[in-house]
Amino acid sequence: MSANNTAFQKCINPDCGAEFDCGQALFKCPTCGELLDARYNWDKIEVPDKLNNFAKRWAKRSNPLNFSGVWRFRQLLNFCDDKYKVTIGEGQTILQQNDAVAEYVDMWKGHLYLQYEGLNPSGSFKDNGMSAAFSHAKMVGATSSACASTGNTSASVALYAHTCGLKATVFIGSGRIAFGKLSQGIDYGAQTIQIRGDFDDCMRQVQDVCTKLGLYLLNSLNPFRLEGQKTIMYRIIEGLGWDVPDWIIVPGGNLGNSSAFGKAFYELKQLGLIERIPRMAIINATGADTLTDLVNNKKLTWNNGKVNQEIIDNYYNDLTARNFSPHTCASAIEISRPVNLKKCLRAIDICNGVVRAVTDEEILDAKAIIGRHGLGCEPASAATIAGLKHLRAEGVIEADARVACVLTGHPLKDPNVTVNYHKEKQGKFSNPPVEAPNDIDEIIKLIK
Ligand code: F0G
Repeated sequence: MSANNTAFQKCINPDCGAEFDCGQALFKCPTCGELLDARYNWDKIEVPDKLNNFAKRWAKRSNPLNFSGVWRFRQLLNFCDDKYKVTIGEGQTILQQNDAVAEYVDMWKGHLYLQYEGLNPSGSFKDNGMSAAFSHAKMVGATSSACASTGNTSASVALYAHTCGLKATVFIGSGRIAFGKLSQGIDYGAQTIQIRGDFDDCMRQVQDVCTKLGLYLLNSLNPFRLEGQKTIMYRIIEGLGWDVPDWIIVPGGNLGNSSAFGKAFYELKQLGLIERIPRMAIINATGADTLTDLVNNKKLTWNNGKVNQEIIDNYYNDLTARNFSPHTCASAIEISRPVNLKKCLRAIDICNGVVRAVTDEEILDAKAIIGRHGLGCEPASAATIAGLKHLRAEGVIEADARVACVLTGHPLKDPNVTVNYHKEKQGKFSNPPVEAPNDIDEIIKLIK
């Protein structure tokens, strides 16, 4: 069922390596339970010999597949025929050079770039993944879909589901979702189930519900979602005049993005479309820092696919014993059992990656700086700039490196956090509204 047998699914566990047709909707290897990749028979695909050949598609953007910032790169995610491809104009995002934010993190002018994925139709990077995953859902004939979410996945699922006529049920943790995101899901018509628990509880439930009821799962366990998210990297390269940056910085939650980015660069290098792979920094919030702890303290590595499962099991057993639930103001990344952990370890291996955790205060200050000097973002996205500040101070990233931070979500996703920072709590860069009597002279006195 895949486009001309160009693609297949493959288990990432080297001891298993089972392969499956793309016509199957799977979210874990049926043989061993590990994660699955979408893989390609590159010799059967006409991949352009230079990345800048993709630029020609812009002149033909009356074709919606050329307008899409995902499908414009379709040879690099060639798993279904055009007739199944879903697009609502995702991926029209901006790579902005930002010197004021560069100054905040002590980088040279002209070296820091912000990739605004909040400009997508549902206001987050998820739309890149959903255009690909819903195309696969259509290809396999799915009629009902589901996801667990900290908010953005649910908003994006709800939007794409009604666009292509699928039913959608979204699972969210009670009290754990930013208002902008909740409002989107219900407005776009998804059935929203608030589970008394956190994201990790929702993630467990949704997998069982999807298995029992045969619903199409849209979390990043779905390998086709990650194929769409690879295109964020292609567009950063495009924004740099078809050149790669030195560093990519990304927030880490369920670790789908970091996994997808590592895969994107691995494939581009394999295809000879780039000469070097950038380094990657993945940034957790300190209140949800499983990856940081496992990589930096427990020394967990990809190890050619032979990941030490005992370290992970012990870590998760300890979380359970302590009844641990993650907490951060960056609710999007409030996750303690990231489902893509192993693929992320692979990406760290591919990109010579580093992992750091930043405090909520650092996240909120960085968010205020991005708001004041750029186009703004939601809290999780600002973890990138807070993390970059750490990595600059440590000297891991040089002041003259070329760095691209992925700002994953729009500032209006979480207005409460923003208003609270500026008005109630008064952080370092607060800009509180000023109360004035209804009197012209008094008003004029207040104007600075
Ligand atoms: N930034 C934002 C704005 C997000 O919504 C998410 C994840 C992340 C970063 C983390 O990305 O999972 O690829 O590491 N949000 C998911 C959701 C979990 O349900 O909306 P990741």
